[in-house]
Amino acid sequence: MGYAIVEAALEAGHDVILISGPVNLAPPSNAKLVSVSTSDEMFDAVHRQANKCDVCILCAAVADYKPAKVSPVKIKKRSENFSLELIRTRDILDSLGHQRDRRFLLVGFAAETNHVKENAAKKLHDKNCDIIVANDVSSANSGIESDANEVTILFQNGAPQKISRAPKKIIASELVKIFSKIRNKNV
Ligand code: C5P
Repeated sequence: MGYAIVEAALEAGHDVILISGPVNLAPPSNAKLVSVSTSDEMFDAVHRQANKCDVCILCAAVADYKPAKVSPVKIKKRSENFSLELIRTRDILDSLGHQRDRRFLLVGFAAETNHVKENAAKKLHDKNCDIIVANDVSSANSGIESDANEVTILFQNGAPQKISRAPKKIIASELVKIFSKIRNKNV
């Protein structure tokens, strides 16, 4: 979905910085690409770029946990069972939402399997972003690893808006139009 939004934003004539983890997609050639491979790298890269932007769209499925310790050498097998201690990663969307004097429009995503609207509304409130794009990922042919999607857009002010099931390319171009309109209205 992120790459489709980048393409749609480029087509609409915007300058785009794409901060991306490893994916099986070719990066759009007209976007400035910042490649990252860990949640900490993504956190730092986003914070370096965000204040240069009019709109920040955070749609990466960032890991919620990371290993507490990283071994510099191969871990030898010993006992039958092995447990890894995991600790929480930093929430990038939340950190931007609570940044003082934020000037850019902040958009987050919520991939949910149940109580989609309620969970997305809670995210909008808790992470203090301007917009949350919610998608139901409980069905196999919508959302993750699918070319189609169906989303509900929740705003801090105003009624939710639904975009019915359509190819991600179409959804992306609708989203870009909505984000641009709101950004221009707020300026
Ligand atoms: O809380 P949850 O992970 O479901 O929220 C999803 C939203 O939060 C997405 O916009 C995702 O990009 C963002 N997120 C983040 N940093 C994390 C985890 C999620 O920015 N560590």
